[in-house]
Amino acid sequence: MVVTKKSFPDLVYLNGEWLSHDSAYVSVFDRGYMLGDGIYEVIPVYKGKPFALEGHMTRFQNGLNAVAIDFNVGDLQPLLLECLRRSSLDSSDAAIYVQVTRGVAPRTHFFPEGVRPSILLYAYPITLKGFESKLAGVIVSEDIRWHRCDIKSISLMANVQANNEAHRQGVLENLLSRDGYITEGSHTSVFFVKDNTVYTHPEGHHILPGITRKVVIGLCEKLGFAFKEEAVRTDEMKYVDEVFLTGTTVQITAVTSVRVDGNEVFKTEDGGPLTKRLQRAFIDYVAAEIDR
Ligand code: PDD
Repeated sequence: MVVTKKSFPDLVYLNGEWLSHDSAYVSVFDRGYMLGDGIYEVIPVYKGKPFALEGHMTRFQNGLNAVAIDFNVGDLQPLLLECLRRSSLDSSDAAIYVQVTRGVAPRTHFFPEGVRPSILLYAYPITLKGFESKLAGVIVSEDIRWHRCDIKSISLMANVQANNEAHRQGVLENLLSRDGYITEGSHTSVFFVKDNTVYTHPEGHHILPGITRKVVIGLCEKLGFAFKEEAVRTDEMKYVDEVFLTGTTVQITAVTSVRVDGNEVFKTEDGGPLTKRLQRAFIDYVAAEIDR
């Protein structure tokens, strides 16, 4: 069983105020609370330094623009560092959660006018070291999400349902299958290796453009690996040589078991050779970024 114990952060930033988690409140008419009408980001922080910040911020701004929430993410930049400092995480490994909702207004399905977006952010410690020795099991289920998975919406009902099923079955992730092809995980991107070629689903409306995914694609190029942005069929997973997940919370985690409808279609003892080389390259890349 995957037991993930989480605690509340000591401090949160909410609409201009720094508050303890138990005194930070929003109106029940906040459209994030009532309609899931908001966009979020999760940014990894290595030794107090936000990683791939530009990529995260660009994706955040793109998401806000896509749903016409009028907010400039540039305004957040100083707050992220202040949050790390105030949370005593300015030399630790951590993550920053940040969300912007459309704001507080009487409930309507259309966008209300003249509403100020609500901003929430907080930082919390996470263990980023040692990902290369983790081995994950995954299950597969139908991708029932909407057709704009590229938007990092706070409405995550299909994702939480999928991940809860993985959790219930004692594995880390649920890979999602749409029209016979694997898109991504409930909260991670997924890569496959077959005959020394690395595959992942192309960008578009059916996956989140993962920031870690992008770094890993760059590393494939750097290492001279053959790489194809091409989706893998769900029924082809039994023929692949390696599977790994990427994401802010898992970095590059090897998958050693894939179960489809209760049948184990992929099984290995350990992460494969290309996965291991990418993990090492990722560790070096992060170290160089921290020192930059
Ligand atoms: N999840 N795909 C989905 C559906 C995700 O939610 C995430 C990230 C990823 C990986 O993206 P990145 O490499 O940019 O973290 C892929 C975050 C961490 C979350 O929801 O908590």
